[in-house]
Amino acid sequence: MIDDLWYKNGVIYCLSVATYMDANGDGIGDFKGLSRRLDYLHGLGITAIWLMPFQPSPNRDGGYDISDYYNVDPRYGTLGDFVEFTHGCKQRGIRVIIDLVVNHTSDQHPWFQQARADKESPYRDWYVWSDRKPAHADEGMVFPGVQKSTWTRDRVAKAYYFHRFYDFQPDLNTANPFVQEEILKIMGFWIQLGVCGFRMDAVPFVIATKGPQVRKPVEQFDMLRTFREFLQWRKGDAIILAEANVRPKDDLQYFGDDGDRMHMMFNFHVNQHLFYALASGDTGPLAKALVETKPRPATAQWGLFLRNHDELDLGRLTKAQQAQVFAAFGPDKTMQLYNRGIRRRLAPMLGGDRRRLELAYSLMCTLPGTPVLRYGDEIAMGDDLRLKERECARTPMQWSTEPHGGFTKSDKPCVPVIEQGPYGYPHVNVAQQRRDPNSFLNWIERILRMRKEVPEIGWGDFEVIETGDPAVLGLRYDWRNNSVLLLHNLDEQPRELTFSVGLAGDSGDTLIDVLGDQHSQAGKRHRHTVMLEGYGYRWYRVGGLDYLLKRSEVDGGNGTPV
Ligand code: NOJ
Ligand code: CA
Repeated sequence: MIDDLWYKNGVIYCLSVATYMDANGDGIGDFKGLSRRLDYLHGLGITAIWLMPFQPSPNRDGGYDISDYYNVDPRYGTLGDFVEFTHGCKQRGIRVIIDLVVNHTSDQHPWFQQARADKESPYRDWYVWSDRKPAHADEGMVFPGVQKSTWTRDRVAKAYYFHRFYDFQPDLNTANPFVQEEILKIMGFWIQLGVCGFRMDAVPFVIATKGPQVRKPVEQFDMLRTFREFLQWRKGDAIILAEANVRPKDDLQYFGDDGDRMHMMFNFHVNQHLFYALASGDTGPLAKALVETKPRPATAQWGLFLRNHDELDLGRLTKAQQAQVFAAFGPDKTMQLYNRGIRRRLAPMLGGDRRRLELAYSLMCTLPGTPVLRYGDEIAMGDDLRLKERECARTPMQWSTEPHGGFTKSDKPCVPVIEQGPYGYPHVNVAQQRRDPNSFLNWIERILRMRKEVPEIGWGDFEVIETGDPAVLGLRYDWRNNSVLLLHNLDEQPRELTFSVGLAGDSGDTLIDVLGDQHSQAGKRHRHTVMLEGYGYRWYRVGGLDYLLKRSEVDGGNGTPV
């Protein structure tokens, strides 16, 4: 059971083939290059790869504008190379999930081309049309400032089509049963080629009602159950990880009360409050966000992340909180995007400060859920603000001090590799960090290993512990008669804390530091006094010393066997 629900205690690593590793020297990353890097990823300790879109695409939105769902873009290789890649992953026990982008297609997709050219085409109703410009055509844009409207006139179709995102991404009419059937077929196809699930793009929009009369879209949640059921029949351990930036009160609609909809969702609510905590040193709102997103079915899981390939969206914070995060992490207009977010990578946001980086990743690894890393984060890569919109945080992986960071032998990489400044590849690259036992890369590898050895975080129930200090977040997880306690100091000043673990009797009296040797024994009234350095963090196993020693002889301290 424990291993079957692999996503409850795994580590997911997100990458785009185009910018990871170029094997044939044409300047574009490819599946052959990625396959050569599988031992690196295996060594890092990740358990699943999330591949960003790699299907044929005009590539005007990082591949999120697909023109053929059943192929690999020839720039990245062939379907044969793809299967070699999934096979290589399987050999190493790494699962693969891929993006499922079915809210919209590219306007170059043959379905759209036929739909616009012929009113009588069966594909006409695969998209969302209006003869006249709907009254609210200038509302609901996802990319404000760049996208002007959600309805655009197509001169060939002589009608307006709906697009929640850019105008080259016409929305599919997901209410059409033929479209629904096609979505299942796409899933079935890639499952057959070895993937173990999907990161489903833009889920609230996929299931929303669409049309010229629709002012307030309503989500059709039953659709999620259909997707899940189909997937489970085809492959029992396959999952859907939903991209759904929704309010906590809607979480259960997405997970399904009985856990019959999405297996996983990204926790955007916690993400934004986590950045507020990092910016302000106040963990109160983060603790509140954790409690608000606590209810979920036993088989469901949160995806926890720091930065992703999009902007850091701060839309759920209050104006005052937003202002604080902008001031701390993106004060310059050039660092901000879509009037709501920051487009930088994490390391430059934190000023490259190793203590703060460790704190952030330690938090990500210990909040309730499964960590989702982004390629390059493990070596603290930077961004290139000269590139437009979100492109700045999507530069190629920096492998070595060779030209173009060893990403390609071509002198024309598809995206420029960061070369100048403190984050340039001469300073930040895998090869150097691999040699240095104290490098960030080696720290990440150790923290990921420890995260997997503490399944209580992935599986257990949590309590927020009263630490008596708003700068210090305390969390205790309980699972199968084991407990762990995690402390994080968000302030740069050291803190002395006196607290109780909150377990009955003396069961919380001994705290074993699993990352170092700062163990703690409770004093009077079962209270601990612990000194945390500025931005310090501590992972403890909780329990009597005798019990812990005995237990670790039996099972290495890694939970009770089922
Ligand atoms: C969400 C993706 O994360 C983003 O990169 C993309 O632009 C939109 N969906 C549209 O597919
Ligand atoms: Ca290539």
